[in-house]
Amino acid sequence: MKKVEVNASTSYEVLIGSGLSAKIGEYLSALGRTGKVMIVSDTHVAPLYAEGVADELVYRGFEPSIFTFDAGEESKNLRTYTDLLNFLAEEGFTRTDTVLALGGGVVGDLAGFAAATYMRGIHFVNMPTSLLAAIDSSVGGKTAVDLPKGKNLVGAFYQPELVLFDTDFMKTLPYDEIRNGLGEGVKYAVLEGGEIFDILSSGLTSENLEDFIALSVDIKRRIVEADEKEGGLRKLLNLGHTVAHAVETLTEFVVPHGVAVAYGVRVMARLAYDRGELSEEEFYKIEELLLENDLALELNPVEELIPYFSADKKKAGDKLTLVTIAGIGDCRLTEVDIADVPTYFGVE
Ligand SMILES: NC(=O)c1ccc[n+]([C@@H]2O[C@H](COP(=O)([O-])OP(=O)(O)OC[C@H]3O[C@@H](n4cnc5c(N)ncnc54)[C@H](O)[C@@H]3O)[C@@H](O)[C@H]2O)c1
Repeated sequence: MKKVEVNASTSYEVLIGSGLSAKIGEYLSALGRTGKVMIVSDTHVAPLYAEGVADELVYRGFEPSIFTFDAGEESKNLRTYTDLLNFLAEEGFTRTDTVLALGGGVVGDLAGFAAATYMRGIHFVNMPTSLLAAIDSSVGGKTAVDLPKGKNLVGAFYQPELVLFDTDFMKTLPYDEIRNGLGEGVKYAVLEGGEIFDILSSGLTSENLEDFIALSVDIKRRIVEADEKEGGLRKLLNLGHTVAHAVETLTEFVVPHGVAVAYGVRVMARLAYDRGELSEEEFYKIEELLLENDLALELNPVEELIPYFSADKKKAGDKLTLVTIAGIGDCRLTEVDIADVPTYFGVE
């Protein structure tokens, strides 16, 4: 088992290992939790794991309930959120009780937002089940639901009290979802270099999975600890995201987020190489990393994407903050005037 300790506005542990879900009751008791636990899950994950988790909680003296909603981003909305709040109230949950997210990033974001707001905040524990949620969304305290106008427009910063990832969950995760998680993994590898870059360059296996997740979480931990509410440094985590958001908008979200991020990393690496800011050797190392992870894609050409860059949330006034690649393990925040973006990307 691996453990990463996050010291944000509150402190909590991220535990990563095989068979951990069978110990969830033990861990909740160790945190001092008692009473009711609302297991929040979706229609793919609940049939696989919710009953097992509930049984373990009963065995440890908890009173679990299960709230399940239709799998998919379309459910991450105010209606599902309200249904969950109403169910918490109907089941008599109070501030001493706990919300337990059991699912991917959609479940974690929605359950976390409900936990942050029900009775002004009740205990929250996250059990991510997708690779993306394990390495990214379960850590850092961003919770949210979508509005028709856009993703994550309503939310709160609310840290979990424990994150527990049972690596056995990966056995049922479909290949496309693993690839989607690897897209964010590639981002970490380029941001950090070193061991995580080497692991992904040789390919993810059951042997290096725990190390990979712990290293990813540790990068996110460091950045979140330094800049919990995204004043500056946390923006580095947006490497590849300006391009990714443009691809997602243009393709109406047909291209999954992690895959779009990997393409964003590819575009930014090519740009840095063309501008003479990234060495040829490192440029090809990034290309090989993408190839190894089945993510060396050619999606929309950059000239098609640029008009969508100015809608990016990372825009402030007339400037766009891009995460640029000066080297593997050396990414920087670069401000570009919106008017100069086409020239910056070599497009006129
Ligand atoms: N809060 C943050 O900091 C943060 C960061 C990145 C992404 N996100 C959010 O995360 C969401 C994306 O997360 P995601 O990619 O995990 O999507 P998801 O939650 O929709 O999960 C992807 C799919 O995999 C299924 N699944 C999950 N675990 C499984 C398992 N072990 N076995 C079988 N099927 C399984 C789900 O049911 C779903 O169909 C988006 O809403 C995004 O906005 C949040």
